[in-house]
Amino acid sequence: MRKQIAAANWKMNLTYQQGEQLLQEILDAKIHLKEDQRAVFAVPAPYLTMAGQKLAGSKNYFASAQNCYNKKSGAYTGETAAEMLKSIGIEFCVVGHSERREYFNESNQMLFEKMQLCLENEIAPIFCCGEPLSIREAGTQNSYVETQLKESLFDFNEAQLQKIVIAYEPIWAIGTGKTASTEQAQEMHAHIRAVLAKQYGNTVAENISILYGGSVKANNAKELFSCLDVDGGLVGGASLVAKDFITIIQSLK
Ligand code: PGA
Repeated sequence: MRKQIAAANWKMNLTYQQGEQLLQEILDAKIHLKEDQRAVFAVPAPYLTMAGQKLAGSKNYFASAQNCYNKKSGAYTGETAAEMLKSIGIEFCVVGHSERREYFNESNQMLFEKMQLCLENEIAPIFCCGEPLSIREAGTQNSYVETQLKESLFDFNEAQLQKIVIAYEPIWAIGTGKTASTEQAQEMHAHIRAVLAKQYGNTVAENISILYGGSVKANNAKELFSCLDVDGGLVGGASLVAKDFITIIQSLK
């Protein structure tokens, strides 16, 4: 059965002390996660060790990187290799967030390479895809997202693909307060699953967690997560407030 995941994406926010306190408040809530539920925290790189250690004692809670580089090691000043993440016990890494695609020119091929290195190091990539507003307005979002999936994922075999988590994040909904409707989310998630099923078969597609991201809040998470093909969320702004993210975790199916 596929996992239901509430993933926090702190982006470049919070000091170390604020981050530590936020995690503590969430842990103090002692939310009981079911066997198939996960809470994942994509924290800034300097806080990964702290987050990993803090969450280590709580079942189904994980720290995640927000990014890694598409090279194994070497003269790449400022970058973080997947192997380094593994060496500090990190098991998840966000790959291809739209902010990285836009500001750091990350291509679909580069994201494939990043995920390859993650998988080699037993790190589950949280692969982000999603269309900009112009594409949504033109009504061509399905083929746009399909191309992202094909170019970054289809060179993986079945076993590899099943380790990847997909996050559908329509760019027009990120940080805008404008959430996709449940119909829009379900429609795209079903499309993504159908694209995966065509390439890898139904069983594989049914096993992949597909998260929704883009203005997930405490007051809309339950409705979004209740959609058949929405297996949780990737949450930016609302993950910075303990009370809100606790509610979001509790909204998982
Ligand atoms: P948001 O960000 O929840 O603040 O819209 C989501 C994301 O970028 O992952």
